[in-house]
Amino acid sequence: MSVEQQLLQPSELPFDPMQSVIVGTGMAIPDHCVTNHDLVAIMDTTDEWITKRTGVRQRFCCAPGVGSSELAIEACTMALADANVLPSDVDLLVTATMTPDEFVPGIAPTVQHGLGLGQVGAFDIRQQCSGFLYGLDMADAAIVSGRARTVLVVGAESHAGYMPYGSSWEILRGQRTGPPDAAAYATATESRAWSVLFGDGAGAVVLQADPDAPGVLSSVLNTDGALSDLIRVRAAGFKQQPWLDIAQIAAGMHHPTFNGLELFRQAVRRMPEAVRHVVDAAGLTLADVDVVVAHQANERILDAVRKEMDVGTDIIPSNIANSRRGSQGDGCWHRHYPQQHRPVWQHNRRNTATVVSRTTPGRPHPVRSARVFHRIRRRRPLGRAPLSPPLAALRAHRDHRPRNSKTGFPRGTTGNPYYP
Ligand SMILES: CC(C)(COP(=O)(O)OP(=O)(O)OC[C@H]1O[C@@H](n2cnc3c(N)ncnc32)[C@H](O)[C@@H]1OP(=O)(O)O)[C@@H](O)C(=O)NCCC(=O)NCCS
Repeated sequence: MSVEQQLLQPSELPFDPMQSVIVGTGMAIPDHCVTNHDLVAIMDTTDEWITKRTGVRQRFCCAPGVGSSELAIEACTMALADANVLPSDVDLLVTATMTPDEFVPGIAPTVQHGLGLGQVGAFDIRQQCSGFLYGLDMADAAIVSGRARTVLVVGAESHAGYMPYGSSWEILRGQRTGPPDAAAYATATESRAWSVLFGDGAGAVVLQADPDAPGVLSSVLNTDGALSDLIRVRAAGFKQQPWLDIAQIAAGMHHPTFNGLELFRQAVRRMPEAVRHVVDAAGLTLADVDVVVAHQANERILDAVRKEMDVGTDIIPSNIANSRRGSQGDGCWHRHYPQQHRPVWQHNRRNTATVVSRTTPGRPHPVRSARVFHRIRRRRPLGRAPLSPPLAALRAHRDHRPRNSKTGFPRGTTGNPYYP
């Protein structure tokens, strides 16, 4: 008997087979903007180099004392309001972060408590840039298997703590004027090939079960452990005893190390592979795909991927250099998915198919490529209880903004269907 023959038919399943649908999205970006020009004051770099080599013009950073959990809570609150779903309706919370507030217990319990979800299951995923996709896949699996009806997935990063800017943070925060001290300038310059890419933010989606939705059509996750050295942070690990000490910090082991060139090569090769694989698995062709929501690390990577796949910016859009959304190059790639889904979803023209693709090696569970294919549609959840006052207030704020009659986006925005 073939594997297919051994599988239960939908009518034989002990529960109603469900599909998952994204019913709401939200995001959060900290207030403090650091432009390329700001970085020129604290390291040996130029706006021209950063813009030309990466496409990044600015990034947003958390203030000290603000962690990934705050951003996650803000993004989740927006996503719940967008979905018209109450916190008490959520069955499972999945939080993806490589920069938790504290090493233990991660951010899931803090976010769960902060949102008032009650004692539902809540867990962190440590999958670096791919964390959000892994979270989405776990959420979908929970819904399809009947283990959950409503799942909240959030990716959040507070990378600012990784930035080795030392006393130069005071200059970036406007607390004093330059020049930076020589040691801080040298350390910041050493980091320039990677630190200019990173910023902070969060993105969240609410997924719900729907028996009639097409759901996630195909999904494949891959990890290539052979490439785990491409990005790593050697300090603060339990192979060391003690797990963290002054010697590690003195040796700079708490700073990320980054093989940019090899990451670039991998991304350009793996991303088109991943997209083709997942589209094939869904029984579709590239021509059926409306939008590829891609990892937003570097504009040159996206250019190379577009070239390889012979598509334009309409199919693989970018928000790396879009100052209006304040999202460029923030390195918080988790939140690019909800952020890119949001306008795609809100804009009727593009509500049929979305491919999400990502290619990232990393530690401790390095990910070479991961991808999900979604079919999403506009939908209002049925039979929900009225919104709680804070959610209703958020919703009212959103709905009352004056809109551009043509694009439907808030007035004064670009009208670009993807990045208003
Ligand atoms: C990181 C990245 C932007 C670096 O760009 P690059 O063109 O490969 O640059 P290189 O590291 O080869 O450096 C080229 C030169 O520019 C210099 N340089 C690097 N960063 C610089 C900066 N911010 N300003 C000025 N010069 C810089 C280097 O010192 C080097 O100088 P040299 O030739 O005199 O030694 C690019 O490799 C990249 O985007 N990689 C992929 C990142 C990614 O996908 N990450 C995902 C997971 S986090």
